[in-house]
Amino acid sequence: MLEAFGFGLFPLPAYRQTRHEEWQVVRHLASLADGYASGTGVEPERYVLYHGRTAWMSTGLMEQESHAWHVAQATGNVVAAGLGLGLYAFAASLKPEVERVVVVEREPAVIAVAAAAADIASWPGRHKLLLLEGDALAPETARAVMDAIGGRPPDYLYADIWPVCADARAPAETAAMVAALTPRAAGWWGQELAFVHWCRDQALDITPAAFARYAAETNVPVPVSAGYVTFCAEVGLANGLPPGAARRTIWQRLLRRRQ
Ligand SMILES: C[S@@+](CC[C@H](N)C(=O)[O-])C[C@H]1O[C@@H](n2cnc3c(N)ncnc32)[C@H](O)[C@@H]1O
Repeated sequence: MLEAFGFGLFPLPAYRQTRHEEWQVVRHLASLADGYASGTGVEPERYVLYHGRTAWMSTGLMEQESHAWHVAQATGNVVAAGLGLGLYAFAASLKPEVERVVVVEREPAVIAVAAAAADIASWPGRHKLLLLEGDALAPETARAVMDAIGGRPPDYLYADIWPVCADARAPAETAAMVAALTPRAAGWWGQELAFVHWCRDQALDITPAAFARYAAETNVPVPVSAGYVTFCAEVGLANGLPPGAARRTIWQRLLRRRQ
C-alpha cells in the first residue's frame, strides 16, 4: 500500500473477548474475507464488535484498509467520532505528530467494552487520548470537544459512526460535524466508495479534480492527493466500479457489512 498510494497499514492493539450489556467483542477464526481495496484472501483471526447481532466494527483487513488513509491524515489535534474497537484511536495516538485524540462515543457500554477488550489503559498513547461520551452530532458535544482542545479547531476530524460502509447519511452528517468544529481537514469512513459512486453518477473520471469537486459539494475539507485518488480508484475496482472492470465477490454483494 505504502508504495502504491503513499500510505500504509497501521499497528493494532491486542484484543480479547469481552461483553458489556448488549455489546460484545467476539473473536472469529481465520476465514476468507474481502479487503476494501485488495481482493479476497484468507484473513487471520479477527475481532468483531457486536451490538446484539449487528456487527459494528472488526479488526479485519477491510477495516484496516478503509481506516489507513484517515490514520495517515492524523496530526496535531485529532477528533474521532465513534470509538468502536478503538482501532483509529490507538493508531492515531501512537503517531509522534499527534498531540491529542478526542474520541466522541455515544454508547457508554462501547467505551466500557472497548476499554476492556483492547486494554486501553495500557496503550502507549493513552496520555494523549480523551474519551468523551456524547452524540457526535449534538451541539453540546461540539462545545465539549472544543473545550478539550483549548478552543483551537481540530487538525483532523475522522467521522465513523455508521455500521454500513458508505452509508448515505455519512457525507451530510460529516458536514454537520465539520460546520460545528471547523477542522482544518476531515473525512468519513467509506468516503472513497461514496466518491467513486458519485463519479459514476456524474459520468466523471476518478481524478484529483473530481475529488476536489466532490469535497466542495459535500462541504467536507478532504485533503486530496494523487496517491489517494489512485487508492479511491482501486476501491472502486474492488467494488465493481466502473461496471465491467471487475466482478463483485459474494462478500461484497452482502451489503459490505462490517462482520
Ligand atoms: C464503526 S464504529 C467506529 C469504529 C472506529 N473507527 C474504530 O477505529 O474502531 C462506530 C461507533 O460509533 C458509535 N456511534 C454511533 N452513532 C454515534 C453518534 N451519533 N455519536 C457518537 N458515536 C456514535 C457507535 O456506538 C460505534 O461505537
